[in-house]
Amino acid sequence: MIFSQTIVLAICAALSTCQLVRDQGVYGPSLELVHLYYDQWPTGITVSKSGRKFSNYPPGLDANNTNDGSNGKYTVAELIGNNTERPYPNAEINNPPGGSINYSTYPATGANYPNHLIGVQSVVIDPLDRLWILDTGRALTPNGTLVPSSPGGPKLVCVSLTTDTVLQTIVFPPTVAYSTSYLNDIRFDLRASVSVSGKGVAYITDSSSEGRNGIVVVDLGTGESWRHLDGIAEVRSERGFVPYVWGVPLYYMPGPGLPLTTTPLGADGIALSSDGEELFWGPVGGRQLYSTSTERLRDRGLHSELLAQAEVRNRGQRGVSDGFETDSNGYVYHGNMEQDGISFYNPRNASDTPFVRDPRINWVDTMSVGSDGYLYFTNNQLFLTPGFYPGTDRRERPFSLFRVKLPGNGTRVTLV
Ligand SMILES: *[C@@H]1O[C@H](CO)[C@@H](O)[C@H](O)[C@H]1NC(C)=O
Ligand SMILES: *[C@@H]1O[C@H](CO)[C@@H](O)[C@H](O)[C@H]1NC(C)=O
Ligand SMILES: *[C@@H]1O[C@H](CO)[C@@H](O)[C@H](O)[C@H]1NC(C)=O
Ligand SMILES: *[C@@H]1O[C@H](CO)[C@@H](O)[C@H](O)[C@H]1NC(C)=O
Ligand SMILES: *[C@@H]1O[C@H](CO)[C@@H](O)[C@H](O)[C@H]1NC(C)=O
Ligand SMILES: *[C@@H]1O[C@H](CO)[C@@H](O)[C@H](O)[C@H]1NC(C)=O
Repeated sequence: MIFSQTIVLAICAALSTCQLVRDQGVYGPSLELVHLYYDQWPTGITVSKSGRKFSNYPPGLDANNTNDGSNGKYTVAELIGNNTERPYPNAEINNPPGGSINYSTYPATGANYPNHLIGVQSVVIDPLDRLWILDTGRALTPNGTLVPSSPGGPKLVCVSLTTDTVLQTIVFPPTVAYSTSYLNDIRFDLRASVSVSGKGVAYITDSSSEGRNGIVVVDLGTGESWRHLDGIAEVRSERGFVPYVWGVPLYYMPGPGLPLTTTPLGADGIALSSDGEELFWGPVGGRQLYSTSTERLRDRGLHSELLAQAEVRNRGQRGVSDGFETDSNGYVYHGNMEQDGISFYNPRNASDTPFVRDPRINWVDTMSVGSDGYLYFTNNQLFLTPGFYPGTDRRERPFSLFRVKLPGNGTRVTLV
């Protein structure tokens, strides 16, 4: 029985001294603190083969991360020790001239620079140890309005960790990244057999709070991209969905002066099975885990969308989570925010299992399995941002990065 160690013997000689059975709130291997964020508010984390660490700071979720052309805010940084970070790969690419938002349009829009970062929601290192930066092209204005992107903004940028320079930029057309898309998270399969170009593919979730969610697939060689599962129920939030974190129901503020809604966030967490044949995802606005065959997502033929939809599987309840990650055990890890924990789905027994619980866990935003056999995860208080009820900023610095040893000598999966 999983929580049997939490049962304390009842000694009830008198009511005033009675020790009743209680939830100890802690489970699994101990968490190790790795880094504290005192400057900008992070979401992503990714760890290189040699242990270098990178985070991103989305202006689409925190107006304080928005670069206004002169405040020096960055959207990607390397963690350089002593709880400090520096813009990565350099300050210039993180500083779009005039800022991340184009106020010369009405309404304001994301700036259209393909050679500058606008609003980065994820950073992920691929099996060849290259850093990929996923730019949504969107940012919040000071009053908390999320501006739509402009073509040039939403893109994928590949950086060499050897030279710290940009190797490749793939700009998404507006038919793949809609102006109201929110390209959220990405996973890589570099096996030659999975793409026309032989350079591998990437799979991306579109978690847009405006509702047109889906899965984007990219051929990393040709730079071509396409959507599948566009707007189907399984990639969208469930109407009326209310997550509870630290005992508090979370309602959502879509923008300044707008009425509260239930959590409208669609497909967000994404993970490949350890053999690359199945893609898992889950909306933040829902507790179900879904998957489909990657072969069906890569297919662009006449019946490809019908076949991709026909293959969608509901893997059951996972709880409320944000980012996902896979290890060499084949487990799909995900936060379990309503339980202050992280759990994993095991495809071999089609069930979910608690991995760790800790009262310090508030919002497990992003996870990254390192080559050292640890699961790294950011814990960023997202549910205390002004986007959530009651619309006030209740976050307290520092935000934290933890790591925890994987079970069964689990380590990174490299599909190459
Ligand atoms: C964001 O910026 C505002 C204005 O400078 C400040 O009052 C607030 O504390 C900041 N919040 C965070 C979490 O940085
Ligand atoms: C961290 O701070 C200590 C003490 O100030 C200093 O000696 C050390 O060089 C710093 N390390 C890094 C990586 O900045
Ligand atoms: C701002 O919008 C104007 C009008 O569409 C456009 O000409 C200009 O290139 C945009 N600039 C940036 C940096 O997005
Ligand atoms: C918020 O700011 C945007 C951009 O400056 C402006 O267009 C909009 O009217 C403002 N909205 C509110 C409710 O103040
Ligand atoms: C499923 O597999 C995991 C990992 O081996 C195990 O910990 C868990 O207890 C199993 N779940 C069930 C319901 O048997
Ligand atoms: C993990 O690795 C250690 C050291 O190589 C080995 O002794 C142990 O049996 C391994 N455990 C599992 C579950 O594979």
